[in-house]
Amino acid sequence: MKHFILTLLCLLSVALKSVAGEQKIIRISTNQIDLILQVADNGRLYQTYLGDKLLHETDVKALADNKAGQQGWEVYSGSGNEDYFEPAIAVTHNDGNPSTWLYYVSSSSHAVEGGVQTDITLRDNRYPVDVVLHYVAYPAENVIKTWSEISHREKKPISLSRYASTMLYFCRSAYYLTEFSGDWAKEVQMSSQQLHYGKKIIDTKLGSRSAMHVSPFFLLGLGEPVSESEGDVLIGTLGWTGNFRFTFEVDNLGNLRVIPAINPYASSYELEKDVPFITPEFIFTLSKGAGEGSRNLQEWARNYQLKEGKSPRMSLLNNWENTYFDFNQEKLVGLMKEAKDLGVDMFLLDDGWFGNKYPRNNDQAGLGDWDENQAKLPDGLSALTKAAGESCVKFGLWIEPEMVNPKSELFEKHPEWVIHYPNRDAYYFRNQLVLDLSNPEVQDYVYGIIDRLLKENPDIAYFKWDCNSPITNIYSPYLKTKQGNLYIDFVRGLYRVLKRLQENYPDIPMMLCSGGGGRCDYEALKYFTEFWCSDNTDPVERIFIQWGFSHIFPAKAMCAHVTNWNRSASVKFRTDVASMCKLGFDIGLKDLTDDEIAYCRLAVSNWERLQPVIMDGEQYRLVSPYETNHMAVNYVGKDKRAAVLFVYDIYPRYQEKLLPVKLQGLDPDKRYKVEEINLMPGTSSGLRTNGKVFSGDYLMKVGLDVFECRQLHSRVIELTVQE
Ligand code: GLA
Repeated sequence: MKHFILTLLCLLSVALKSVAGEQKIIRISTNQIDLILQVADNGRLYQTYLGDKLLHETDVKALADNKAGQQGWEVYSGSGNEDYFEPAIAVTHNDGNPSTWLYYVSSSSHAVEGGVQTDITLRDNRYPVDVVLHYVAYPAENVIKTWSEISHREKKPISLSRYASTMLYFCRSAYYLTEFSGDWAKEVQMSSQQLHYGKKIIDTKLGSRSAMHVSPFFLLGLGEPVSESEGDVLIGTLGWTGNFRFTFEVDNLGNLRVIPAINPYASSYELEKDVPFITPEFIFTLSKGAGEGSRNLQEWARNYQLKEGKSPRMSLLNNWENTYFDFNQEKLVGLMKEAKDLGVDMFLLDDGWFGNKYPRNNDQAGLGDWDENQAKLPDGLSALTKAAGESCVKFGLWIEPEMVNPKSELFEKHPEWVIHYPNRDAYYFRNQLVLDLSNPEVQDYVYGIIDRLLKENPDIAYFKWDCNSPITNIYSPYLKTKQGNLYIDFVRGLYRVLKRLQENYPDIPMMLCSGGGGRCDYEALKYFTEFWCSDNTDPVERIFIQWGFSHIFPAKAMCAHVTNWNRSASVKFRTDVASMCKLGFDIGLKDLTDDEIAYCRLAVSNWERLQPVIMDGEQYRLVSPYETNHMAVNYVGKDKRAAVLFVYDIYPRYQEKLLPVKLQGLDPDKRYKVEEINLMPGTSSGLRTNGKVFSGDYLMKVGLDVFECRQLHSRVIELTVQE
């Protein structure tokens, strides 16, 4: 038998060599990018090119001849081989052998929505381990999405300690990495550094609220630091709502490998026979400047990834900052009337509506007990959805279904459903613990919460799904001896719940929230229409936070609310900042003057009217708050007949030199009327150019004098094509 297997393996390796002899080339292309892979003489698969698209097919052949036999850029680098740098995959086999060498077996491609999918099978020549590499190239958006699938037929489970989504290589003179890090209320602060020999790792071990300290995306300047409109830039992001790790390793020859992956920290994964381990999707684009790359991703997301990516969004009034936990039915009904008065589409009831034995009157109790609190809401949610209907607004509801307070009936009943150590004192993050979503019973329970809420209250039109704690006390009572699977199976359990929800309630929009922007990735956004960028709604901070997130996400995925954070900024300034994204309010109208309320109404109706431009148009970041005391962004509608320019004077210096803002993305030959909108009642535009008509060419080359030396001053300018 042993002899037979050896003969088979030899035959297989001869077959592989003959494929290699044919110089198998796999070309993965968009309209502007080529990723070219080639089987070398040794039968293994190497990356030979990643960059601007090659114009001539003959050059692809020339490249193949030049690079034939090239070693060192193995597409899915194995371990225990001649490559001395970070591998894509590491497996401990049943016999304890830690090496994996992968050989090309076959590849195929087929059309998928928006693009072409290529699947490449690799196989170890000594162990029954397969890896299938998947690539989907989206030509029009210049985006490539790639992930891998590892499976085996060894007798017992194998242990995986590396499982990259993919590997990409670059050979440039220098590399500059921009990361997006921070903390609660200071998400996605951008910082850049040059990469030199060795590894730079961006990772998180937070589990559930995984992106609290750093977000799952980056910019990479190839040859020069990232700039907005020139230079080669790679923008990459991993669709994984859990521990992720990006490794950037510069080797002895000055080449860079980029490895996006689930973080293998405390996650040696026991993989059963014939069960594929599917890695998260890594999504990337190569562009000239970061602006173009962001537009690529934004358009791709709206077209193919984001839930309801092409539909309009609902403006809303939330009660969180207005009432916190202190509300009752009467108060909420009053707020619904305020929502109607503002002209928003929806009222969103936040935390604090549930729990009876342990009422949710603060953040110390009640999570897990999803029954209406009788003292606050004696007539239940149905009375609220009815009242919302009477006020002609939709009704949305906050939930945090993956969590439990130790002070809850759920914890009393099912301590075994909770991630915590059997033999240590528990520690808490926001007084709560995380449910063990690796356990199918818990998945059913979490799905059941929402299912029941929707069955009992079919008029619930929206959920805000929160997740305020990282995984703490990291032990799964369910997984027992397979604790290495916990971080990964938790996330997969979450996806199972979300998928089921999507299948059974496909039309319910949901906000992804995690104590602010602690969850913000493109896998979750298959199930969520939008995410909450940050609990920090100070408009000055928001200018930076929204600027950061806009590198990856379209405006319609980013929730921005007007609140009382930073009262030194006018209500107009606060609203103008929120109007750049998905607009909402979290403020009591009693806090506002009549003029301010009238202003907000006007801003809401303008935002609703301009949704096709702001939510679905192309976004151009014009003036950076990181480089100046101002900020400017313009959006251009698909047909270039309308545009909106947002400008902010943040903290300008005295008599600072002010430059005109040059717009981008307009049709140079069309003529646009410039009109300042969102003006406070009783004020008029101070713009000299207000009401005038200019060509797109003029607006893009000469620009408009829109900045001022006034602190916390903002302008919204609408541009409309004149026939
Ligand atoms: C988190 C969210 C807030 C709010 C609170 C409620 O912090 O980010 O918007 O919903 O939870 O407890």
